[in-house]
Amino acid sequence: MKALILVGGFGTRLRPLTLSMPKPLVEFANKPILIHQIEALTEVGVKHVILAISYMSDLLEKEIKVHEKRLGIQISFSHETEPMGTAGPLAVARKYLEGDDQPIFVLNSDVICNFPFKQLLSFHKVHGGEGTIVVTKVEEPSKYGVVLYDDNGKIEKFVEKPKEFVSNKINAGMYIFNTKILNRIELKPTSIEREIFPVMAKESQLFAYNMDSYWMDVGQPRDYLTGMCLYLNSLRESDPDQLSRGQLYTGDVLVDPSAILGEGCHIGPNVVVGPDVKIDDGVCISRSTVLKGAHIKSHSWVNSCVVGWKARIGQWVRMENICVLGEDVRVMDELYLNGALILPHKTITESIPEPHIIM
Ligand code: GDD
Ligand code: MG
Repeated sequence: MKALILVGGFGTRLRPLTLSMPKPLVEFANKPILIHQIEALTEVGVKHVILAISYMSDLLEKEIKVHEKRLGIQISFSHETEPMGTAGPLAVARKYLEGDDQPIFVLNSDVICNFPFKQLLSFHKVHGGEGTIVVTKVEEPSKYGVVLYDDNGKIEKFVEKPKEFVSNKINAGMYIFNTKILNRIELKPTSIEREIFPVMAKESQLFAYNMDSYWMDVGQPRDYLTGMCLYLNSLRESDPDQLSRGQLYTGDVLVDPSAILGEGCHIGPNVVVGPDVKIDDGVCISRSTVLKGAHIKSHSWVNSCVVGWKARIGQWVRMENICVLGEDVRVMDELYLNGALILPHKTITESIPEPHIIM
């Protein structure tokens, strides 16, 4: 079986992290988001993954080669010369996708969940329509694609980012299609949500597979942190041995074994600490991710933040309310940061009392 992952797009909403790293390579729970997806696809028998990308990225190609070997599958890049939207990339990748009659998985690259691909595949085979999309329930549906479907799962209506309330069941950004869908898609920039799904729904060819477990689009900092909490929580149920245990930890915490922690720290609940991170004595961190190689000095307090790669935080710093520090940012001692988004390589010498982007 084959899968296409929509990797293009610049990930602007996940800045400043995506200024250093393409969105799918940003680590989520110490593993690139894309790799969570590719591993789950491999588990259901996908042997060939096609990454649809609209920009060149040597970093991405290099990282992917490593995993291709490790997982024993084929991973191809399908390059676009201009951004082709969410359907156009299927036309660009046509040569990879056609040729056998097995259905193909298609994924947005920024969604995280338990990836119910096995169930999706069986459901798809049973109803016999051309496509199935995974749907989930959310509180705030307006920023997603919204679906209305009948008791058999047949979608009656698909509305992308509706202005008025339609339903709270949304498109979770994971699909399975018969290769026939390729006949609907021309080689030009096309939105699958606005131009293809509404037509398929009208022709009774699109079905919804309802997923009950957790789900999040982690393509922006607030949701990235919410997704991290959901992921850790689900790990406690599915594979608790992966979580870190010890005197310094409270609740669900994932700490890379190479991280060095000082005495008297309070780590947790809901914290991910990446490789080669150094955390000095008496540091408190909750609901945050600290990425590879960062250093947090003694007695600092971090809540609801993402600390970027190799960032250095001084002592007695207080950071909260979705601060995101880009790569190699430096924060001097005793500062207070509230909702600050700080671009890579900046040095912060004054407190930031109100949410702000530091260019
Ligand atoms: N190759 C390629 N080329 N990929 C693209 C392009 C492009 O031109 N534009 C966007 N993508 C990729 C993004 O990288 C992402 O993986 C996926 O397509 C969806 O784009 P987003 O920009 O993340 O869309 P969204 O989050 O606003 O909405 C989509 O996802 C929601 C679920 O998270 C839609 O599919 C909604 O219907 C859905 O509910
Ligand atoms: Mg998204």
